Amino acid sequence: MAASQTTLWRWISGILGVTALVLMATLGILLKNTVTEPHNQSTASPGPTTEPQKGSDCCSCQEKWIGYQCNCYFISHDYKTWMESKIFCESQNSTLVQLHNGNELHFMRSSGHYYWIGLSYSKEHNAWLWENGSALNRDQLSLIIFPSTKGCILYSPSGSVLDESCTKQNSYICKQQLM
Ligand SMILES: *[C@@H]1O[C@H](CO)[C@@H](O)[C@H](O)[C@H]1NC(C)=O
Ligand SMILES: *[C@@H]1O[C@H](CO)[C@@H](O)[C@H](O)[C@H]1NC(C)=O
Ligand SMILES: *[C@@H]1O[C@H](CO)[C@@H](O)[C@H](O)[C@H]1NC(C)=O
Repeated sequence: MAASQTTLWRWISGILGVTALVLMATLGILLKNTVTEPHNQSTASPGPTTEPQKGSDCCSCQEKWIGYQCNCYFISHDYKTWMESKIFCESQNSTLVQLHNGNELHFMRSSGHYYWIGLSYSKEHNAWLWENGSALNRDQLSLIIFPSTKGCILYSPSGSVLDESCTKQNSYICKQQLM
């Protein structure tokens, strides 16, 4: 009786020992997996694109035009009067750019250059008018001289504007709206 009891206890302690080993091994594997599991960090998202995109998802522009936020822009390297610029843009199925807000030409913001835009002074209406006939909203370009002494607006994407004589020759920006 005493002998068989001892055998039984040996069996029980043996089984307990093995169970403990298995549990520890399992725990070890679990811990190891947790620690070495590859960190799935999303790679730092690239900042907003500042470079002009030659054709983006929603637009494809003609050669030499720049696609930006679903519009195509032509940045001239030549010089024309305001009226010649307007006529050129129209010949390209576009208009001199009519800015929707101060950020519209953000992709060129480092440019200190001035360009004709589609904004001119109407003596008849005594107001600045966009090419589409709408009057300038004072929130759009707050630096505009009023009333004009010269008649046309030169705009720098860095944010400044100049009232300039329409017969002066300058660079210009055409915009083709695709949407
Ligand atoms: C990271 O997690 C995402 C979504 O949970 C998954 O699509 C992607 O394949 C994972 N990348 C790695 C390297 O595990
Ligand atoms: C302008 O539009 C007309 C009519 O859709 C087209 O025939 C002409 O080729 C276009 N011109 C340019 C420069 O895209
Ligand atoms: C004309 O263009 C200006 C500048 O982009 C815009 O604010 C205005 O809403 C436009 N007017 C019309 C009738 O489309």
